[in-house]
Amino acid sequence: MSHAPLIARTIPALNRACNDLKKRSATIALVPTMGALHDGHVSLVRLAKKRAKRVVVSVFVNPAQFAPHEDFASYPRTWKTDLAKLRDEEVDLVWNPDTDTMYPDGFATRIVPEGPAVAGLEDRFRPHFFGGVATVVAKLFTQVRPDFAIFGQKDYQQLKVVTRMARDLDLRVSIVGAPVVRERDGLAMSSRNVYLSADERRAAPVLFRAMKTASKNIRAGEAFVAAIGAAAKAIEDAGFKLDYLEARHAETLAPITDLSAGPARMLVAARIGTTRLIDNIAI
Ligand code: PAF
Repeated sequence: MSHAPLIARTIPALNRACNDLKKRSATIALVPTMGALHDGHVSLVRLAKKRAKRVVVSVFVNPAQFAPHEDFASYPRTWKTDLAKLRDEEVDLVWNPDTDTMYPDGFATRIVPEGPAVAGLEDRFRPHFFGGVATVVAKLFTQVRPDFAIFGQKDYQQLKVVTRMARDLDLRVSIVGAPVVRERDGLAMSSRNVYLSADERRAAPVLFRAMKTASKNIRAGEAFVAAIGAAAKAIEDAGFKLDYLEARHAETLAPITDLSAGPARMLVAARIGTTRLIDNIAI
């Protein structure tokens, strides 16, 4: 029978729990989340278990990464089912601070990431986002002091931003990227998929399908601009408004126009109704 994970909601409780885990000379992997857990998160926890003896999952909907017009208030909060999933996965500790614990009165520090954080992808449409992510992730790292931290590749630019930050600030944590987990029809799993109406949900797999076709055609020799243009048209014909669909260098995120530049990634962000989805694949 699986044991309920320990839950810490204050810094002293977290310190006690982490010290206890470390006393037993265990390696620790952290899986940062905003809750609303789905099979993609479960895959991160499973990867964490392969990397480290003990697994800590943080569940914190971080207000600092939402702009005032975004969905902070309506972001799905599913604590009971989240906890049941974490218990099934035999997670050791759940770090679940409230906003005042994370950002106490007078909090006045914000990390301003550059490099991959200003690549002209998500940052163009959500200029506040990576500052909020970097600040909370740096806090999570110093609070939990993990040996490894696991992030999904679905948020590809975010993965590059936290990897750069961990290196630049000597945070002594190895960042591990985990493959995108998809529904059977190819839609990347996301906590925001619950926002989709039935019609939007039926249309949504076009993002993955169109990128896959473009990637296949590029590898067969088609020019980037033609392949990406056709994918953009397919996505828009299905009812999406594109924020971006671009090929970038998989490591630096610099724009590329052919495969000679090194490993390539195609990244998309698009809106359907009131929902904004992102996805990416290797070319
Ligand atoms: O990817 C997420 O769920 C969030 O951006 C993260 C990394 C937990 C920071 O709030």
